[in-house]
Amino acid sequence: MNYQWYPGHMTKAKRAMQEDLKLIDLIIELVDARMPLSSRNPDIDEMGKNKARLVLLNKADLADPRINREWSDFFAAQGIAVLEINAKSGMGLKAIQGKVSEACREKKERDKKRGIQNRPVRAMVAGIPNVGKSTFINSYAKKACTKTGNKPGVTKGKQWIRLNKELELLDTPGILWPKFEDQSVGLKMAFIGSMNDEILVKEELAVELIRFLQGTYPELLAERYGITKKDGPEVLYEIGDGRKCYKKGGEVDVEKAAGILLEDFRSGRLGRISLEKPGKKDGQ
Ligand code: G4P
Repeated sequence: MNYQWYPGHMTKAKRAMQEDLKLIDLIIELVDARMPLSSRNPDIDEMGKNKARLVLLNKADLADPRINREWSDFFAAQGIAVLEINAKSGMGLKAIQGKVSEACREKKERDKKRGIQNRPVRAMVAGIPNVGKSTFINSYAKKACTKTGNKPGVTKGKQWIRLNKELELLDTPGILWPKFEDQSVGLKMAFIGSMNDEILVKEELAVELIRFLQGTYPELLAERYGITKKDGPEVLYEIGDGRKCYKKGGEVDVEKAAGILLEDFRSGRLGRISLEKPGKKDGQ
């Protein structure tokens, strides 16, 4: 991982998150739209059980639009407010305020009964590494952005970004650990580049990706690389040959071909691809 998640590190992250949870009403949970369940933290439901929740399907620009809608329906059916966004371009950000109100309706009603009026919702962003938390905070805060500074009664050092009169955001996101014990999750994390490539054998990873694509998006490899072969290693060889990736002796450089395929997938050049869909464990 980008982060080496060992038990001590996890405990520390959990403790930090629990401290921050005391300060907020709403958790804005970022997941990767290409794999919303696999990029979710396993403990977030338990940790956030008394909080309002909003799930943002980030990097929706890279995921299959049809499956994005299925995921939105999936979360909505569980009563969780959800939105597709692209934190990088700003797509979907305008709709957030409405969703925040939806997610915090009960809290607002409780406030009202207690005679509290117009208290802004306090929120924190949380998610596993690389899901786009910093990008989101920066782009969402860009317009509003009056840092309110340390407020009396609030933990020292905490910075709040006042987005508007109804919403304040903690400027540091909660970093959560992924479900790394599940192998299929690990593989998807590796596909999207959230694992350290150095610890993986690129060619093996690329062959796994080819297998997935052939099963779920069979036309994409032919469209981009003019592939005719079926067998994973042969496909990789064909990609390398087609892209003129040769080693010194004229042999096809399959490692380079693997790098090209992975990069094309991660950047979206291969198309908008979802790695899992609701109801099917491995997205097939
Ligand atoms: P984190 O705080 O959760 O760890 O994630 P961070 O914001 O650092 O984002 C991780 C990478 O994901 C960044 O790419 C960022 O640009 C990209 N990203 C974030 N949101 C989106 C999105 O909605 N769509 C797409 N396509 N990409 C997104 P990077 O390669 O690390 O940096 P950069 O070269 O883009 O600056």
